[in-house]
Amino acid sequence: MGDLRDPNFKRIDNLEKANAFIDEAVRELKKQIGNDKVLLALSGGVDSSVTAALLIKAIGKNLVCVHVNHGLLRKDESKQVIKVFKEELGANLIYVDAVDEFLDKLAGVADPETKRKIIGKEFIDVFAREARKLGDIKFLAQGTIYPDILESKGIKAHHNVGGLPEDLKFELVEPVKFLYKDEVRLVGLALGLKKEMVYRQPFPGPGLGVRCVGAITKERLELVRESDAILREEFAKCGLSEKVWQYFTIVPDYRSVGIKDNKRTFEYFVVIRAVNSVDATTATVEEIPYDILFKIRDRILNEVSGVNRVLFDITPKPTGTIEWE
Ligand code: XMP
Repeated sequence: MGDLRDPNFKRIDNLEKANAFIDEAVRELKKQIGNDKVLLALSGGVDSSVTAALLIKAIGKNLVCVHVNHGLLRKDESKQVIKVFKEELGANLIYVDAVDEFLDKLAGVADPETKRKIIGKEFIDVFAREARKLGDIKFLAQGTIYPDILESKGIKAHHNVGGLPEDLKFELVEPVKFLYKDEVRLVGLALGLKKEMVYRQPFPGPGLGVRCVGAITKERLELVRESDAILREEFAKCGLSEKVWQYFTIVPDYRSVGIKDNKRTFEYFVVIRAVNSVDATTATVEEIPYDILFKIRDRILNEVSGVNRVLFDITPKPTGTIEWE
């Protein structure tokens, strides 16, 4: 597919151009939306966050953000979304706690594609239910970005709010759909979003679900969440978070024998993955210095109970994908 952008579109490579884009986008959004309401699924990811911030600037409280907590988010992620959007930006935000609902549907399901499909379908169901409760809303905003349009088909089932049931008919609002990721980030910064939010590492729609390898349990999900929080904290401390493209932990549904306080243990292991990539189609492994790896290992073994081993995944893509599922 060729370039669909207007040939006159000026690439956004500084804050001045980002501000010019924002002025123009706000004008267009006001014209398109008028006094109607717009619904948006706010995950906290870069694209939906920037889309939300842009719409808040254009239409304020007429943007209704729905944040679904599916229980597969990182530590404190939902709290962060509420803090930034509701408290700081004054968004009209509905928080939906769907944790038990998602985990019930996923119980005992080990096949990766089936897990993804359940998470995707459940997300649509929960979002549709909220949308129906809200009554007549004309528009649906989506954080579609230009690469999404160019590569609409991936190897794995991807997850967004496309595919809503027939009775929910919306006109789409996609204010950043002609922007590349780096341009979306600049627009986010120009809108006043924090650097940590705008330069977040990629995070898959099915969240920690694809890192809790095999059938998801609350127990193992907690091991993924806690070890991931430690990894992110340590990477931030030593500056690796600014350097490494994507880093996270994985906990497969497999236990091994260990020893602790002179007693035999039979516990899960945590895998650390840290990769660099440009567009996620290929990836290389970051060479983390051993002293940093050992520090992370010690913290995980001491602070995350139920884990007796820590491994480092040295597999590039190909042959491994970035995520394990
Ligand atoms: P893989 O594992 O295929 O991942 O090498 C490539 C990149 O895509 C992210 N990823 C997803 N992102 N929805 C998303 O929005 C998804 O379902 C999904 N699955 C994988 C992954 O984290 C990596 O950055």
